[in-house]
Amino acid sequence: MTFKTTLLASAIAIGPVAAFAADMTIGFSQIGSESGWRAAETTVTKQEAEKRGIDLKFADAQQKQENQIKAIRSFIAQGVDGILVAPVVATGWDEVLEEAADAEIPVVLLDRTIDADESLYLTAVTSDLVHEGRVAGEWLVNEMNGADCRIVELQGTTGSSPAIDRKNGFEQGIAGHGNLEIVRSQTGDFTRAQGKVVMESFLKAEGGENICALYAHNDDMAVGAIQAIKEAGLKPGEDIKIVAIDAVPDAHKAIAAGEMNATIELTPNMAGPALDALEAYLASGAMPAKWIQTESKLFTSADDNEAIFNMKKDLGY
Ligand code: AHR
Repeated sequence: MTFKTTLLASAIAIGPVAAFAADMTIGFSQIGSESGWRAAETTVTKQEAEKRGIDLKFADAQQKQENQIKAIRSFIAQGVDGILVAPVVATGWDEVLEEAADAEIPVVLLDRTIDADESLYLTAVTSDLVHEGRVAGEWLVNEMNGADCRIVELQGTTGSSPAIDRKNGFEQGIAGHGNLEIVRSQTGDFTRAQGKVVMESFLKAEGGENICALYAHNDDMAVGAIQAIKEAGLKPGEDIKIVAIDAVPDAHKAIAAGEMNATIELTPNMAGPALDALEAYLASGAMPAKWIQTESKLFTSADDNEAIFNMKKDLGY
């Protein structure tokens, strides 16, 4: 039985009696802690659950899909009321989601999409990942204003939806601008350490003076790359323009210092809308939209990045 076919039955069974948040147990399968953004999402999710009196069962998958699948199976065995999953990669979820659907446990995807029948989950709370990449590409088109630019790209985790979509979006953003060319593109796995290592290899292979811009699929990789650029004797943000995604405090700090040029914000508060949707569904059978889209906002040196850095730090990033 798919989740879709159980929905009607469960909505009827629940009837008008509300399932109150205070009685709710929710399992959360988190990817790991590869980036500052990921750590912030974990913090915000725990805070959101506590605020609502929800008993949150947290499982850190340490970047492995098999651990996420195990965690989901364990949540099902424990009979939780709902499951939040931030899926590390886009494929390979059908079987375990069928199991959750058979157990009539609604699943909400956080921050990443999957390649599966959408009847297998209640809703997905994500940004428009393609749009983010496109905004980064369009920003660089404007910045270069027709000048030639050889670009290097640090991709996110191979097979993850943000790596796939942010790459496609960026390519769309620079399409038709023959002055811009991606000369190297490799995964840095969304981590600061790998961002640095891969940027070092780009600098070595291309020669620093032949790289005009870096596009990183997240800020952590950009921050690692900034270190590599400095160690190569170049000025990040000047000799090599840098645009990335997340808008974590360290990116605002780097922009304020002139070492990075732009970042596109991804809110770490995916849990707020996700728990709203789960609570409404469990209380009355209300069906949310299949996609709950979060905002994407471009920040550049035109913004007061020092103030934004302080504000975000105060918010507990
Ligand atoms: O899925 C969201 C991405 O995952 C964030 O941009 C990145 O920092 C994280 O690791």
